[in-house]
Amino acid sequence: MADTQELAKGYTFVNNTQYDAGLFLLQRLGVQAGMLVLDVGCGPGNLTSYLADLVGNNGKVVGIDPSKERIDIALKLATPNLSFHVGVAEDLSSFESESFDIVFINSTLHWVQDQPLALREAARVLKPGGRVGISGGSGDYLTAQERIKEDVLSRQPYRKYPEESPPKFLKQRELESLIDNAGFSKRDIVINKIVKSAKDADAMIDWLDTSSSGKTYGGIPLDLRPKARAEMKKEWDKLVTDDGIHMDMELLVTVATK
Ligand SMILES: C[S@@+](CC[C@H](N)C(=O)[O-])C[C@H]1O[C@@H](n2cnc3c(N)ncnc32)[C@H](O)[C@@H]1O
Repeated sequence: MADTQELAKGYTFVNNTQYDAGLFLLQRLGVQAGMLVLDVGCGPGNLTSYLADLVGNNGKVVGIDPSKERIDIALKLATPNLSFHVGVAEDLSSFESESFDIVFINSTLHWVQDQPLALREAARVLKPGGRVGISGGSGDYLTAQERIKEDVLSRQPYRKYPEESPPKFLKQRELESLIDNAGFSKRDIVINKIVKSAKDADAMIDWLDTSSSGKTYGGIPLDLRPKARAEMKKEWDKLVTDDGIHMDMELLVTVATK
């Protein structure tokens, strides 16, 4: 299912987990005043806007995202050194080779269908010595979210509707080999252990819906989604504590140099 205005708008209110993950990545990436930065999968653009503050008036930041709904929200933040366009990680052909100092990919790589191509494109548009920064869920760590999704989607009648383009969380070994094959000369990967907290099951599912552009339900048709959501809610309810739900997550945080 395509993204909607409602999901895109909702994400801007609940993306503090992704925002903080982006700040962690930025601490390692060394973005400086005057740099040219490409934010791939920029969503509604709030982190992209923060990047534009970091590079200042002598730098430039471009954000791209396939969701027109998210780019429409981001465009409200555009300034002379900050622009946004609809686009995908796998096709950066509107950007010249060796034109950016930094490519920033936060909480996005698992949604990219052709990850090897996306990393080759990132390497192509980076100047020699330029850096890609990637932060996202680790395939070496199974979160409660993925366990619940897999469990509910394997039940009848949902299993009749397989997900068309499921997220792919890379294991560290897989990520290392993709980076090495994409043309980067140096890489550094650390694990960022975080906790996603939500006040209750509904708040957790809302966060998952808006973060995934509605893909929490895989290929399930629209009319069956409320029933699937109710079944997911039952599973999340089992994890509620006195102060809400706390889901442990592990993110792989990569800085690779061309
Ligand atoms: C969880 S959001 C992250 C947004 C933003 N980077 C942040 O940290 O808040 C994931 C984003 O990836 C985008 N996305 C999905 N497939 C993509 C692709 N092939 N290329 C680039 N972005 C993609 C989605 O539209 C969505 O905005």
